[in-house]
Amino acid sequence: MKGVVIQNAAEVVTPVGGQAKFGREMNDLSRIEHASVVIEDGMIQAVDQTAVIASRYDLRQYERIDAAGQSVIPGFVDSHTHFLFGGYRADEFMLRLTGSTYMELMAAGGGIGSTVRHTRQTGREELYRLGKDRLDAMLAFGITTVEGKSGYGLERETELKQLTVMQALAQDHPLELVSTFMGAHAVPPEYRGREESYIDFLLAEVLPVVKERGLAEFCDVFCEQGVFSLEQSRRLLLQARELGFGLKLHADEICSLGGAELAGELQAVSAEHLLHASKDGIQALARNRVIATLLPSTAFCLNEPFAAARSMIDSGCAVALASDFNPGSCFSYSVPLLLALACIKMKMTAEEALTALTLNGAAALNRAERLGSIEPGKQADLLILKYPSYKFLIYHTGINVVQKVIKKGCLLCTNR
Ligand code: NIG
Ligand code: FE
Repeated sequence: MKGVVIQNAAEVVTPVGGQAKFGREMNDLSRIEHASVVIEDGMIQAVDQTAVIASRYDLRQYERIDAAGQSVIPGFVDSHTHFLFGGYRADEFMLRLTGSTYMELMAAGGGIGSTVRHTRQTGREELYRLGKDRLDAMLAFGITTVEGKSGYGLERETELKQLTVMQALAQDHPLELVSTFMGAHAVPPEYRGREESYIDFLLAEVLPVVKERGLAEFCDVFCEQGVFSLEQSRRLLLQARELGFGLKLHADEICSLGGAELAGELQAVSAEHLLHASKDGIQALARNRVIATLLPSTAFCLNEPFAAARSMIDSGCAVALASDFNPGSCFSYSVPLLLALACIKMKMTAEEALTALTLNGAAALNRAERLGSIEPGKQADLLILKYPSYKFLIYHTGINVVQKVIKKGCLLCTNR
């Protein structure tokens, strides 16, 4: 067989191009009706009307996947998660329901600190098994590429353990996994009140090892009141950039600290959360082409006001959407929930949301040239929906409408 052809689709819908879409351009999707996609060696060869493909290719030489009456879209890129951790925080969730806040729980030694204690105690095999189960579940939602952060060790050994388990998963699991070093996720108890020394320690003893062993592509920091200041975040990220890491920031999640402005100043790849980003911060992101990664499932779980997606897009920002799946603020990798919140609560259009979760997500991982759209020359990561239009992604609220998940041209998952 020469490859695979997905044929007779009701439509193939995709953003187009090899880089992020900014502002209004996020609405521009290509839509071909009665379409087929030809795949060879895991790469897309051709996308065209079924009749045109049939006249150009001898389809008997291809494995055929029929998509009659179905919509075909790019695989989802979840560009922000903390999926690898030990233990759970169900009791904290209950406390939040009765009025405790995320930062109060963290300050009292719970929150990230609680997951750190569990993750330090969890063996590699167990972490691997937990990670694999979670990646399998994400795949069924149509997530074909996922980013994962360290940051539940906050000491050399456990940070490296998290990253090496992710490296093993990246090798073994068909889902594409991108690793981010987030040693500056919280101040570990051993360094309480000595944030500067903790940053010194990360810079001297952890970051260079992560680089040397090729364990992460990006470096991220929780830039927040009571966690790491703007100055501390800047110091860490400048050194990370020096070493060749792409930069990410958890910015303006709980307070308006100026994290978006810092992301602009550093020309980070992306700034995430942004619930309290200022007007100047939003301008700084647009001007410096920093991707604004929005995580509405977290705002929902914390019962916080949503990020100003409309004003970001209308100001010319490139918005990406991601799950932020983690054990505390958002135990969810549900794409249907994420899309419902993006469109119903943050007022994004269905077209913008699709771009945000495909091409712009890929751009937030420096992969827009290879991933995030259905075009000749891109990797064949695509989804066949149960219905004839991408609009069902939003219209069927909270329901997974993905039927087939194809990664690098291989059919990996079929949902009933
Ligand atoms: O993106 N804000 C910091 N980090 C995560 C939550 C991590 C956790 O609570 O375990 C976030 O919300
Ligand atoms: Fe996060």
